[in-house]
Amino acid sequence: MVGGFAPRWAPGRRAPLASAAMFVFKAAVVGAGTMGGEIAQVIAAAGIPVVLKDIQQEFVDTGLEKAREVTEGQLGRLVSKEKISQEDAARQRKEVLGRITGTTEYDGFGDVDFAIEAVPERMDVKQAVFSELDEVTPGHAILASNTSSLSITEMAEATLRPDKVCGFHFFWPASMMRLIEVIEGEETSDETMQTAANFAQAIRKTAVHCGEVPGFVVNRILISSASEVWRVTEEEELDPLEVDKVIKESGTIPMGPFFLADLSGLDIALHTAEHLHSSYGDRFYVSKRMKELVEAGNLGQKTGKGFYEHG
Ligand SMILES: NC(=O)c1ccc[n+]([C@@H]2O[C@H](COP(=O)([O-])OP(=O)(O)OC[C@H]3O[C@@H](n4cnc5c(N)ncnc54)[C@H](O)[C@@H]3O)[C@@H](O)[C@H]2O)c1
Repeated sequence: MVGGFAPRWAPGRRAPLASAAMFVFKAAVVGAGTMGGEIAQVIAAAGIPVVLKDIQQEFVDTGLEKAREVTEGQLGRLVSKEKISQEDAARQRKEVLGRITGTTEYDGFGDVDFAIEAVPERMDVKQAVFSELDEVTPGHAILASNTSSLSITEMAEATLRPDKVCGFHFFWPASMMRLIEVIEGEETSDETMQTAANFAQAIRKTAVHCGEVPGFVVNRILISSASEVWRVTEEEELDPLEVDKVIKESGTIPMGPFFLADLSGLDIALHTAEHLHSSYGDRFYVSKRMKELVEAGNLGQKTGKGFYEHG
C-alpha cells in the first residue's frame, strides 16, 4: 500500500489506539557498512542516541567515519548558507557524533527501544542477528530489518517476539533519501507498525506502509526499469559507461543504473534482481556482467571496482 502511512486497519478492523505506539528514546543499528553508518547518523542527527555495532572494530570505524563525513557535510552547507555560525556547527557536530556509540559487542543494547539490522542480505546472517537481538534487547524493543527483499516473517521466526518485528527499509544514501518502507510481516502487530511509522517521522523521514511482497514497492519499480537497461546493454553489446552517460545527459534521472548499482553495492543489486527474477519471471533481468563482477569480488564503490574504477 503506497501513499503516506496508510493505517492498516481496513473497514471492519478496530484501529489501534494511538497511545499503544511507543516512543523511541534510544536506538541501535547492527552492521556499519554502506547503509549502517548513515542510518546511525540520521538517528543521531534527529536527537536520539544510537549504538552502532559491527563484527570488527575497523568496520565500526568506517561506519563512524561515514557518520562524521555526513554530519560535517550537512553542517558545512548550513554554515555556507549563513544559517548557522561556525561555533554552532562545531557544537552541533559534537552533539550529533556524541550520540553515536560504536561497539563490536552487544554493549549498550540493554535499554534500546528500536534496533535496525543492516547486515548482508542473507537470510542465515539476518536470522542469526535477529536471534541475538532477541536475547540482548528488552522485551518491549522493536526489531527491524533494512532488508531490500527478504521475508520479514522468516526473520521474525528467529525471535520469540514476531509481533515486534518489521521491515524498516532505508534507501541509499540514507542521509538524503526521505522514504522508508515500513514492511509488515505476517505476525507484525498494529502497534509495531505504528511505532515504526512514528519513529520514521521522528528521524525526519516519510514512511510508506508495504506488504511483504518481493521488492516491496520501490525496488519493484526501480529494478524493473534498470532491468530493461541492463538487458538491452547486454543484448546489443553496448558499453555500460556510455549507456550511463547518455541516460545522465538526458536529465531524466541523476545517474545511470550502472553507476547507481556500483554506489549501492553490486552484491545487493544482484541479489535483489535475482530475487525479483525468481519471483516475477523474465520481466526482471539479471545482468550477466554484474554477476561476473560480484563473483570476482568487485562489488562497486565499497571494494574500489565494479562497472567503474573508484578512487
Ligand atoms: N546498499 C544499498 O544501497 C542498500 C539500500 C537499502 C537497503 N540495503 C540493505 O541493507 C543491508 C545492508 O546492506 P549494505 O549495503 O550496508 O551491506 P554492506 O555489505 O556494505 O555492510 C554490511 C555490514 O554488516 C556487517 N556484518 C556482517 N555480519 C554482521 C553481524 N553478524 N553483526 C554485525 N555486523 C555484521 C559487515 O561487516 C558489514 O560492515 C542489506 O540487507 C541490504 O539489502 C542496502
